[in-house]
Amino acid sequence: MEKSDVKEPLPGLYSRKRPFYATLSHLRLLNHPLSTKENLHITLDLEGSGIEYSVGSSFGLYPENCPQKVEAILLALQIDPNHIVYDKRNEGSLTLRAFLAKKVNLQSVTSAHLNLVIPSHSRHAEVKQILSTKEELLSYTSSRDLLSFIQDFWNPSLELQHLCDACSPLLPRYYSVASSQKLVGNKVDLMVASFSYPFAGREEKSVTASFLKERCAIGQSKVGLFLMENPHFSLPMDRRTKVILIGPGTGLAALRGFLQEREMQDPLTGGNWLFTGDRNRSTDFYYQEELLEWEKSGFLKLSLAFSRDQEGKHYVQDEMKKHAAELWHWINEGAHIYICGDAKRMARDVTLALHEIALEEGGLSEDEAKNFFRHLKKGKRFCQDVY
Ligand SMILES: Cc1cc2nc3c(=O)[nH]c(=O)nc-3n(C[C@H](O)[C@H](O)[C@H](O)COP(=O)(O)OP(=O)(O)OC[C@H]3O[C@@H](n4cnc5c(N)ncnc54)[C@H](O)[C@@H]3O)c2cc1C
Ligand SMILES: NC(=O)c1ccc[n+]([C@@H]2O[C@H](COP(=O)([O-])OP(=O)(O)OC[C@H]3O[C@@H](n4cnc5c(N)ncnc54)[C@H](OP(=O)(O)O)[C@@H]3O)[C@@H](O)[C@H]2O)c1
Repeated sequence: MEKSDVKEPLPGLYSRKRPFYATLSHLRLLNHPLSTKENLHITLDLEGSGIEYSVGSSFGLYPENCPQKVEAILLALQIDPNHIVYDKRNEGSLTLRAFLAKKVNLQSVTSAHLNLVIPSHSRHAEVKQILSTKEELLSYTSSRDLLSFIQDFWNPSLELQHLCDACSPLLPRYYSVASSQKLVGNKVDLMVASFSYPFAGREEKSVTASFLKERCAIGQSKVGLFLMENPHFSLPMDRRTKVILIGPGTGLAALRGFLQEREMQDPLTGGNWLFTGDRNRSTDFYYQEELLEWEKSGFLKLSLAFSRDQEGKHYVQDEMKKHAAELWHWINEGAHIYICGDAKRMARDVTLALHEIALEEGGLSEDEAKNFFRHLKKGKRFCQDVY
């Protein structure tokens, strides 16, 4: 993001449609360089925004696309990059290059693109075939992106503005607040996953992490953001209430925010029990110093699960089961339970483990356990922030 693009802030009015442009003030890799994984720790400066966030909230960040990918599309289109196009969603005009860099989801191709291919096009029959059934369409759209569509079907008889209108928007990415404003003031820490995956015969990089680490200059670059509050994922009102925090991988982000907040409130009240980890202890023990320091001071009870340090997998729920009796005791003492991170596998399996513990340690029946956790959820004692 160039400084000239940055609009004057309007305190109190920042939103998804009107993001605040925060300076990236810090970025570091959380993993050891030899790790099989990459997660970034970033700090954004909110000075001048008037934004007040609570722990448990997230920030929506607007990334920009990879310039090499944009150039590859421009090359395939063979159109002047400075050609002015209209962005129907944001109701403004900008150059084709800026539109592709900032406004378009380059990973997405839809039936709207395919419908642009007119009957006189030499490959129209092929397109008709793709559009003929849901399965054919899904098979095409799930294995192609905008560049491959252009390479497959673009020709100058097609209308550029129609192509722009058919594109899906580049959506904001959400990141859990990993700091307490009581501690860091006008800043916010976030934990951002950085990864790559094979797609359409190429190696694709995660959009947001690549934008941050490859194209943002620390202390200079501005990142568009807005706050997304989550009142359903908040700490207990009473600081003496115990908390059980479960979050492997990036799930640790929100829980670090919770712990900083609890420490700032009063480190002596309530118990804090954290279940976290990732692949390997030697390379993926995030915020190690901070967590061990908290453990040493007695502020934190720490249970670690590193999944790839032994023969079979060892996950946070295995640690929970290992400490089932004590965990059940905490829950009965009124502890609030928080699960954060991967929705597809981790959150489901952790919830199952809690049910098992209720059955075995609490002697509850299946139905009683279901009711028990339903009741906890209703009373905001069992909260999830999963994605
Ligand atoms: C409320 C909320 C809070 C969130 N908090 C965090 C957070 O604290 N930290 C965080 O990193 N993410 C968080 N996410 C997910 C985040 O918003 C992005 O979806 C994620 O970082 C990928 O964005 P990207 O632009 O880098 O990747 P993209 O380039 O958009 O990723 C493309 C593909 O990669 C896959 N993918 C997504 N994440 C990963 C991953 N970690 N490893 C491998 N493949 C992946 C997706 O299935 C997708 O198909 C949160 C999401 C929500 C809704
Ligand atoms: N599309 C993809 O290919 C892909 C891949 C990873 C993550 N993601 C997405 O990335 C986000 C989360 O990433 P993340 O870094 O926080 O987490 P993550 O990459 O899913 O894994 C973090 C830790 O959790 C472990 N884990 C895996 N399955 C688990 C389970 N069923 N129960 C408990 N722990 C489990 C992992 O072990 P192991 O890895 O050793 O099994 C690892 O140690 C989510 O949105 C997720 O959907 C997508």
